[in-house]
Amino acid sequence: MSSDAGLDGRTPRRTFAIISHPDAGKTTLTEKLLLYGGAIHLAGSVRAARARRHATSDWMELEKQRGISITSSVLQFPYEGTRFNLLDTPGHQDFSEDTYRTLTAADSAVMLLDAAKGVEAQTRKLFEVCRLRKVPIATFINKLDRPGRDPFELLSEVENVLGIRCVPLQWPLGMGPDFKGVYERETGRVLLFTRAHDHGESAVAARALPLEDPQLPELVGEGLYRMFRDEVELLEGAGDSFSVEAFRAGAQTPVFFGSAMTNFGVEPFLRRFHRLAPEPLPRAGSRGLIATTDPAFTAFIFKVQANMDRAHRDRVAFLRVCSGRFQGGMWVRHVRLGREVRLSRPQQVFAQERTLVDEAWPGDVLGIFDPGMFRIGDTLCTGEPFEFDAVPRFSPEHFARLRPKDPSRRKQFVAGVSQLVEEGAVQLFTQPGNEQVPIVGVVGQLQFEVLEHRLKDEYGSEVLLETLPYSHARWVTGDGATLDALEGRGYGAGVLDRDKRLVVLFKSEWQLGVAERDNPKVTFQAIAPR
Ligand code: G4P
Repeated sequence: MSSDAGLDGRTPRRTFAIISHPDAGKTTLTEKLLLYGGAIHLAGSVRAARARRHATSDWMELEKQRGISITSSVLQFPYEGTRFNLLDTPGHQDFSEDTYRTLTAADSAVMLLDAAKGVEAQTRKLFEVCRLRKVPIATFINKLDRPGRDPFELLSEVENVLGIRCVPLQWPLGMGPDFKGVYERETGRVLLFTRAHDHGESAVAARALPLEDPQLPELVGEGLYRMFRDEVELLEGAGDSFSVEAFRAGAQTPVFFGSAMTNFGVEPFLRRFHRLAPEPLPRAGSRGLIATTDPAFTAFIFKVQANMDRAHRDRVAFLRVCSGRFQGGMWVRHVRLGREVRLSRPQQVFAQERTLVDEAWPGDVLGIFDPGMFRIGDTLCTGEPFEFDAVPRFSPEHFARLRPKDPSRRKQFVAGVSQLVEEGAVQLFTQPGNEQVPIVGVVGQLQFEVLEHRLKDEYGSEVLLETLPYSHARWVTGDGATLDALEGRGYGAGVLDRDKRLVVLFKSEWQLGVAERDNPKVTFQAIAPR
């Protein structure tokens, strides 16, 4: 991308993702971060690029029909000498494992909340994935320009529902039509914003005044000022002080307030996040932690996407560089296959537009052309072969039996299903005795539609989906974890995953709880063991 000019291996990287419930303002905030990073000049471009894509691309008809973004990509923007890699996660309500897995490539996350709604269902799920990996999370409470909930109440909701301590690094001055600015606790300054009348297309003007400045009451109104000072006093008197270590350990979340739409608070957030966001971190693998300074090139695949460009019918594997230097066309060890492979046609994917890249460094994410040899979790390296710890497979929550409508097209059906399983779009289970009719499991219901659509569109295979009443899958191990023992007792359906590991499908949390109580020696895992 042109905005990368001048950035090289010495440029610090910060690789992060935004987690939010649909409509909290992720697209808007992304746009504004790019605006402040100078990557785009007029906010509105991301949305416009999406609209353009819907208008011109025939890729993934379903996206077009629904007007949603199902796949993720990565956006880059420079800020104060740092290169930010923002992993874009699907923004639709119904989400897939893809979203989860994208988070495995991020070093930190921004949790975006709508001030009127607080913690919503999808925020919660994504938060749990971050917690699993101890990813540091900063919180941005958005839409302060609209009447919302009391900020103290929002903080206690985050603490109670998500179990993470909140430390506001800013405090809003007013809310709704009275939202005038934010108080930066670290600098003791109040930043007063002036609303522009260009729908937030350009950076907002801010005037910084010390908290004690005698002009403040007059500027914002006596009543509002008094209320704000009372809140600040309450804030100073209670609550934890901020600790970078606690943030990095995922125990505390620094909280920011603003309005992505009007740009209020976006720049102050970015300025502080720039200092807080962790640099690319060492990753665990079979030969211990791999330091980012390790001269050997190492990377792992976290996503495989087929048919991104229908004109070329290609597959793109997304990799995250963990150490060393990536160079276009380089030869690397593909550890699972046990041979050297050439990484050709490296690219960065900006929405639907791709740019070829010559080199990449730890923290960078890029898409490479995949002739069908990559799987999620694959390790690529130069130097001594080893494997990164597995990218977790998350427990599906929706299940269906799948068969071809036309049995004479079984070959296409099998080819299509295998491809989608390899991509990680769906998980496949078989029931002993009924191997011909696989059970597919997905994290979000929408994936069924994607599955049906892609099988028909890309493989000419129309399918019949018979949804099943299960909602929880658990990989079972330990004493007594046999198909007969578990299934015979009527807990749920015993099935095998594609690596022939035993999985029990339960209809409810209650049923799962009973099974766990009755079988203390059996371990029930929501994430597939290695
Ligand atoms: P998402 O990607 O998280 O789904 O959210 P998106 O940015 O698309 O924002 C969802 C809606 O919320 C949009 O309105 C957007 O303009 C609005 N929004 C985002 N940030 C703010 C904010 O800070 N304040 C206010 N008041 N609204 C905000 P829409 O009506 O659905 O779309 P549009 O017509 O504005 O494009």
